Amino acid sequence: MIEEIITIERHILEQQRTHPQATGVFSSLLYDIALAAKIIARETSRAGLVEILGLAGKINVQGEAQMKLDIFANQTLIRINSYTGRLAVMASEEEADILPIPEGYPTGRYVLLFDPLDGSSNIDVNASIGTIFGVYRRLSQDGPGKLSDCLQPGRDMVAAGYVIYGSSTMMVYSTGNGVHGFTLDPGVGEFLLSHPNIQIPSRPKYYSVNQGNEQFWSEGVLHFTRWLQGIDEEDPRKPLSARYIGSLVADFHRNLLTGGIFYYPADSKDPRKPYGKLRLLYEAAPLAFIAQHAGGYASDGRQAILDIVPESLHQRTPLFIGNRDLVEKAEAFIARYDG
Ligand code: AHG
Ligand code: MN
Ligand code: MN
Repeated sequence: MIEEIITIERHILEQQRTHPQATGVFSSLLYDIALAAKIIARETSRAGLVEILGLAGKINVQGEAQMKLDIFANQTLIRINSYTGRLAVMASEEEADILPIPEGYPTGRYVLLFDPLDGSSNIDVNASIGTIFGVYRRLSQDGPGKLSDCLQPGRDMVAAGYVIYGSSTMMVYSTGNGVHGFTLDPGVGEFLLSHPNIQIPSRPKYYSVNQGNEQFWSEGVLHFTRWLQGIDEEDPRKPLSARYIGSLVADFHRNLLTGGIFYYPADSKDPRKPYGKLRLLYEAAPLAFIAQHAGGYASDGRQAILDIVPESLHQRTPLFIGNRDLVEKAEAFIARYDG
């Protein structure tokens, strides 16, 4: 049987057909994000060359000011999404406040939240990095979107996804109708369906956490980690292997495909960040939406990430995400030992 070739554009269109009332604006928004991903992927593949090719003078061959990859990624997403009339408002990890649609341009029904470049510490060492996004419908009636349009619980998301710039570039998205992965064929500049209907395998292989922070963890998280390692006498289990790359997208993607759990718990390392390092709106919630539709689950250790009603754009949250039974086990240890 000859394998069918399905581009992400065609897949999005077919998904749209399952929503009779869809107007196509939502599909166009997903195309726009796929385009941004291709542009960022191209820049990522030559990030290491900036110094070698003499672009280090901060003015590159096109006469553009050479910029850091996360600023480039942020600018790309903003430039592609500001003028289309599809969005009411945007918010980015790289921007302190909400990003209104520029004066004179139409506003639309949707809200886009994103982490333009996740895993920045890995850019210079050529390890996988990513982009994370979440899409909501606006709550305000019309005119410029508001902060309140961005502070919605993940349960109300209409789409979420991520791009991973690794040995190949992949885009994974869900509109609540399964989770689907596309691999970029750089030769033709198309994302081709490579992982239809991703479901997290029920037998986990890995656990992913920064064990350099162990001394700052709660009792419950320490006990949970020992349990994962198979050294909890009360409740022995086959130990999981440890894998941690320090890019949330890459660590999450691996566990989604192999089965496992990623966690970034609250820690006492930095009193300014009592809830850990990861942000709710554009890191935890979009990936929680993906996990949910792939048969997994995400929690802050006490409640579902998707149920948290955000209070501010950049609020942080502990994150446990992956196989539901592993995440629920973390919740049980935290309830038992941390009160
Ligand atoms: P970002 O580059 O968008 O700031 O995200 C980095 C995050 C996340 O990608 C990763 O899981 C985490 O930082 C790693 O943090 P530690 O180095 O403290 O483990
Ligand atoms: Mn990030
Ligand atoms: Mn980032």
